[in-house]
Amino acid sequence: MPFSEAEIEEEQTHFANVIATFRQYARYSLAANNRRRKDYFTLPIEDRELLDSLKYKEKLAAVDHAILVNAQFINEIVANPEIFGDDVDSEEEGQAKGMQNQEDSVPNSIIKDSPCFIGHCHPEDNAHPHGHSHSSPLEGHSHSYEGPSRNLSSAVSGRARYRPNDHDMEKLRSTLKQLVRDWSGEGIEEREATYTPMKSALLEHFKEIPQTERGNLRVLVPGAGLGRLAWDVAKLGFTCQGNEFSHYMLLASFFILNRTDEIEKHVFYPYVHSFSNLPDNTAMLRPIAIPDVLPSSLPEGSNFSLVAGDFEEIYGSDDHDGESQAGQWDAIMTCFFIDTAKNVVNYLRIIHRILAPGGIWINLGPLLWHWENNTTNDPSIELTLEEVKDLARKMGFHISNERTIDTTYTNNTQSMLGYVYHTAFWTATRAA
Ligand SMILES: C[S@@+](CC[C@H](N)C(=O)[O-])C[C@H]1O[C@@H](n2cnc3c(N)ncnc32)[C@H](O)[C@@H]1O
Repeated sequence: MPFSEAEIEEEQTHFANVIATFRQYARYSLAANNRRRKDYFTLPIEDRELLDSLKYKEKLAAVDHAILVNAQFINEIVANPEIFGDDVDSEEEGQAKGMQNQEDSVPNSIIKDSPCFIGHCHPEDNAHPHGHSHSSPLEGHSHSYEGPSRNLSSAVSGRARYRPNDHDMEKLRSTLKQLVRDWSGEGIEEREATYTPMKSALLEHFKEIPQTERGNLRVLVPGAGLGRLAWDVAKLGFTCQGNEFSHYMLLASFFILNRTDEIEKHVFYPYVHSFSNLPDNTAMLRPIAIPDVLPSSLPEGSNFSLVAGDFEEIYGSDDHDGESQAGQWDAIMTCFFIDTAKNVVNYLRIIHRILAPGGIWINLGPLLWHWENNTTNDPSIELTLEEVKDLARKMGFHISNERTIDTTYTNNTQSMLGYVYHTAFWTATRAA
């Protein structure tokens, strides 16, 4: 379906605002830390002397330093945003009309109309009439990347300068924590708790297929975040496609997957943005190095791709890139994803429809309905776990291997606070 001019402009504007958020990180975060300095000077001299004896001001200086290190890394991520479309101006800021999405989503049909492929593309991606290729360290591993938009330069010219708000900055700060989850040694605990049982279930389901033939099996990971689960699945030899619609995630995952040639090349401080619940300074000021693996270390001939856009629009329509999605996927792995639905009935319907007969859906996650109480008048259907499973059965799934898996999500392991999700795990098969 072609885009209206308004939709294209909205998409461009949103992308430019995300770039502006990345580029204004240092100024915004230093100002937040400076508030603490100002507060210190409001105190009586004897209180300040006591704080001086605790080296409070030195701590604030160390946080400033960490923010500057973060900014350097963050600016590298958006150094060449044109990878996602045609030229993006290298001006410091994106510009905006002040639009705010509840989710920083990429309208999918813009992708369909004008994708950008990076790396050696997936055959069906190559079929796209407007695609164009870029070289990538992952070339030769069939890693492809279908980016979200075009002509973004027009979004960064001639408009008032965009001022990111805390909602924007929180998304960026979350992206840093998500990088820890997916690509650092420290994230291994969460990945072991979540990705490992999902991969085991996948291997178990296809245990009769020799490893050398796994490439014939197509695995989809919707809501792939920063891509580690999808990458791990490709590393096992399966053909794997991640799907993601957040610009924050897409920019960061592109950078890690295609612009990182050394283990632990990037160092940043994801925990310096809050002083709460810290047992000591290390809990806040320890650096995290990423990645813990070389993204280009996929075996020769691997087939790994990330597709940018809305899951429902891409996989729910009859025709994506000229190819029907029905029955095309041997496995679908949803990790912390199904509760992102406005209408979970449609998510499950799509998953069922695009699975091949006998295919497997592997799910792990809580039910933190993302659109509950939204302020944008979007519909939101919120079911209990029992209801979701009932619905899945009514759709035609046979559910097995049900269990509860306790896990944190982007948790600071050294914080005094930690939320534990009692996530639901299951495998579900579509009747052959
Ligand atoms: C809670 S995160 C989970 C990320 C990853 N699976 C993990 O376990 O770390 C949910 C992800 O789904 C993405 N997402 C939400 N709705 C989506 C949609 N309709 N289409 C594609 N991605 C979506 C979000 O941007 C986010 O990255």
